[in-house]
Amino acid sequence: MRIPLTKPFLALIALVISSCSPPAVPPVQSPDQVGDILIIPQPVRIVRVGGEFELNRETKIVVNEEAGRGAAAILNELLTRHHGFGLAFSDGADIQNSITFSQPSPADDLGDEGYFLGIRPGRIQIVGSERGMFYAVNSLAQLLPVGFQTAATIPAADIFDAPRFVYRGMHMDVARHFMKVEFVKKFIDLLSRYKFNYFHWHLTDDQGWRIEIKKYPRLTEIGSRRRESMVGRSERPYVGDRIPVEGYYTQEDIREVVAFAKSRYITVIPEIEMPGHSAAALAAYPELGCRAGYKYQVQTTWAASTNILCPTQRTFEFIADVVAEVVGLFPDSPYIHIGGDEVKQDQWRESGYVTALKRSKGLNSEPDMNAWFIRQAGRLVNAHEKSIIGWDEIVEGGAPPDAVVMSWRGEEGGIAAARAGHKVIMTPSTFTYFDHPQGDPEFEPPGLGPQINLRKVYEYEPIPKTMSEADAKFVMGAQGCVWTEFIKTPRDVEYMAFPRALALAEVLWSKKNRRNYDGFVDRLANEFPRLDRDNVNYRIPAPAGLGDRRFSISEKAVVDLKSAVPNGNIYYTVDGTDPDADSCLYQGPFVLDLAPLQMVKLRVRIIASETRKSPVFVAQYVRDTVARVLKIPGRPEKSN
Ligand code: ACM
Repeated sequence: MRIPLTKPFLALIALVISSCSPPAVPPVQSPDQVGDILIIPQPVRIVRVGGEFELNRETKIVVNEEAGRGAAAILNELLTRHHGFGLAFSDGADIQNSITFSQPSPADDLGDEGYFLGIRPGRIQIVGSERGMFYAVNSLAQLLPVGFQTAATIPAADIFDAPRFVYRGMHMDVARHFMKVEFVKKFIDLLSRYKFNYFHWHLTDDQGWRIEIKKYPRLTEIGSRRRESMVGRSERPYVGDRIPVEGYYTQEDIREVVAFAKSRYITVIPEIEMPGHSAAALAAYPELGCRAGYKYQVQTTWAASTNILCPTQRTFEFIADVVAEVVGLFPDSPYIHIGGDEVKQDQWRESGYVTALKRSKGLNSEPDMNAWFIRQAGRLVNAHEKSIIGWDEIVEGGAPPDAVVMSWRGEEGGIAAARAGHKVIMTPSTFTYFDHPQGDPEFEPPGLGPQINLRKVYEYEPIPKTMSEADAKFVMGAQGCVWTEFIKTPRDVEYMAFPRALALAEVLWSKKNRRNYDGFVDRLANEFPRLDRDNVNYRIPAPAGLGDRRFSISEKAVVDLKSAVPNGNIYYTVDGTDPDADSCLYQGPFVLDLAPLQMVKLRVRIIASETRKSPVFVAQYVRDTVARVLKIPGRPEKSN
């Protein structure tokens, strides 16, 4: 029988649990005990051995080869910043109470990025390439108790580790909302802790040009200033917020960020969008457009502009000049990202010049015309011995052979690109766009697109099932993207990026057979205090044990939850109100009585402190017989 959810029935729900002391259930010990080596991303192999290493103020650093100096310096920086002391260097070999940095022998088979971290009573041994040693330090950092002052005990173990993918990226859009240098560096520092190795900096778009180009000063004088931003997602009717947005990076700023990223073994890839997403450039230099005399504006709405660069000699000179300056600022990046997405060609169709150009080049379709433009840009980038990266639209009309393709409109573009012999970075919007809400939009800040919860990111597999083994070799990895139309501040960026970035880090670094969501969630709980210490505004995930919907075959459903953060209290309601600190405090597993209505909606919220609260999570507890009557298909449990 289906029971209608009318008001009297809702009142009855309130009676189901009218106090905060429902029947308790004795605790069940999890059979899946978690070890004491908790690292994100999960290393390839951990062998726990007996004993512990005590790190204290007398511990010495021994650097066997010059290559270890960088990683040793980072370890000292970290100890000084978080624990108030650095370690002295010693050149003695095999000394007690030491941390030794050495390069591997070829037989160690650690590759470019792998490392060995051997922890024994009295000695820690770090072996790897320069980069590998840095990753080892980041693993070691996760084994140090938060806030220790004089001594820390670290469980003894042998850790062998190396990444699964060569490209482990995160992106940040600073065009829609500008983020200051200080925050960009903080973000990069955080990424490096989880062994990301690329930061894709989306520097230009319709809504702002954010990189100083000396030869074209108006790009930043005019292109970095937006009068206001539209409110919400719909342009009709247009409502502006009357809040100006501005800001750009001087070339000095860019050099500072790139150098900092380098010290964290992260390569920064600049993105200069073309030929679409160029309204800010056109506002500064209207002669680059196809509409003579038109007054272009830095765009205040969000959808891709129809104002695009005209494929003239003048435009390609402009691109060559910009690329020359950009290449000089990002010397270590093998790539310059040139966009190529969402090119609306209305103005090309209206232009006699472009129509003639198309005819003379034998370009029949829109993808062909876009691809032709991209190939010209590709040549200008190739002249500096760099390759382009472009969004997946660039493959449609034939991209330059060395172009790397970011597959954002799902995975199909990436599959086609790999088949055509291009390297591919997976960025499918349904898995790795971190501007999408992380849970029920009712309880989340404004986002774009469907929900992408933590589990969905964690379970993402960058090699599509349909891809052949040969094509799969072209997949370099994947990247999380933080588009900032609705993400206005650093705290907002942190909320959207973390902890999803940690889930993605594990997807990209860890072996597929080492991935386990429940284990990840346990390790995440261990990691959150470090993010708290560093004032990272991560989103507190749903308590473990709470699904969207849970079925019970009896009238009684057991609610068994665990806070996602170690210092969090769980508060709950069953009366439809949003829980807060004055709601019922979860004190252990309890029984929900489903009999009156066959269904109870449990709302929970984790509160770690007055200022650190999770969003509200809602779970339905449904009696199974009702589920069958309603023919609700059994769905795997999802966590918010
Ligand atoms: C994109 O999201 N337009 C690459």
